[in-house]
Amino acid sequence: MANDVTFPQDRTCPYHPPHGYAPLRASRPLARGRLYDGRPVWLVTGHAAARELLADPRLSTDTTHEAFPVPAERAEAVRSRRRAALLGQDDPEHNRQRRMLISGFSVKRVAALRPRIERITEGLLDAMEAAGPPAELVSAFALPVPSMVICELLGVPYADHEFFEEQSRRALRGPRAQDSLAALERLEEYLGDLADRKQAEPGGGLLDDLVREQYAPGRIDRRELVDLALILLIAGHETTANMLSLGTFTLLRHPERLAELRADPSRMPAAVEELLRFLSIADGMLRFATEDIEVAGTTIAAGEGLVFPTSVINRDAEVYEDPDRLDWERAARHHVAFGFGIHQCLGQNLARAEMEIALRALLARFPGLRLAAPAEDIPFTPGDTLQGMVELPVVW
Ligand code: HEM
Repeated sequence: MANDVTFPQDRTCPYHPPHGYAPLRASRPLARGRLYDGRPVWLVTGHAAARELLADPRLSTDTTHEAFPVPAERAEAVRSRRRAALLGQDDPEHNRQRRMLISGFSVKRVAALRPRIERITEGLLDAMEAAGPPAELVSAFALPVPSMVICELLGVPYADHEFFEEQSRRALRGPRAQDSLAALERLEEYLGDLADRKQAEPGGGLLDDLVREQYAPGRIDRRELVDLALILLIAGHETTANMLSLGTFTLLRHPERLAELRADPSRMPAAVEELLRFLSIADGMLRFATEDIEVAGTTIAAGEGLVFPTSVINRDAEVYEDPDRLDWERAARHHVAFGFGIHQCLGQNLARAEMEIALRALLARFPGLRLAAPAEDIPFTPGDTLQGMVELPVVW
């Protein structure tokens, strides 16, 4: 069993797992590792074991518990805060919250949003075409697509996007603990005010539904309403933005795969699934054991922390042949890029629709799309639990 691999580490190439995770491939399904502060942790590396454990009710996501494996100093400060809605809750609380929202993210609701996602996408491409080339794809496209879509779905005014995008970035990346905490507080204040306005003047978004159906009849209090709005707003734009930027970068670095997609755009749903597996942008789900758990002949003791590095799990050669190859033909669907078990991504139908529509439209609009700088010079996010491009300069 590999010992003492540190988590998290910087990626060397934005679309491959960090070099430092290499020993983990020879140590499936479990390895021992250390967090940034030297605390020991289990690294779950095997695909089957990851799914088994993520579905196990004896694992908790309670971020306030001392056993929760925080991946950065910044997150240590968050421990002192109340638990996040959904992702920070265990059942039965988690289930109660999830049931309030599930219909808002159903396949049917997302299908109804598709024409709107298409219009948003085309509008942004029109603006890019009129202004460029060159363009900086993160700010011109990858970020505004999901940001506009989540605003529309939740009923958040897009006019406030600079504020909430900036604060979300700080909440996730700090860099210092006080930056993350201050950003979370600002977002909470903003969403609380928004909820108050919605009570007075109801609109048609998902937050309006929550105010009307849950908050007004007293089923949830204002704090829970804000907590739910907060996770939906942050999770709803940052992740998909990173998939769009890193996905485009990866396609431009794989000209043969890109040519296949251009020749046959009906491959896009399969390509999105494979990109999700290959990029594994949410690279590190975090849990701790509340009881002793036997898995693959090993005992994980109550109180021990577990990290699930998705970039390693999604390249398990037992499940994916030649896992470092980007391949539209493979059945990538069982990846854990959206997690697994009770916390499996609530927004996955929406994210898939956005990626399919946005990537297809981008490739169709700019047949000559290419990087405007040497690939090695383009900045991407440092090692953390969320990967993506910081900037993406392109020409066409
Ligand atoms: C490609 C984009 C996305 C990726 C890769 C992604 C990834 C993930 C992952 C890995 C988890 C599980 C985390 C864990 O178990 O520790 C998760 C949960 C979640 N995601 Fe996403 N996500 C994406 C887009 C979205 C979108 C668009 C929304 C819309 C609001 C969203 C909302 C959520 C929520 C609310 C949870 C918590 C669910 C729960 O605890 O029950 N995500 N996501």
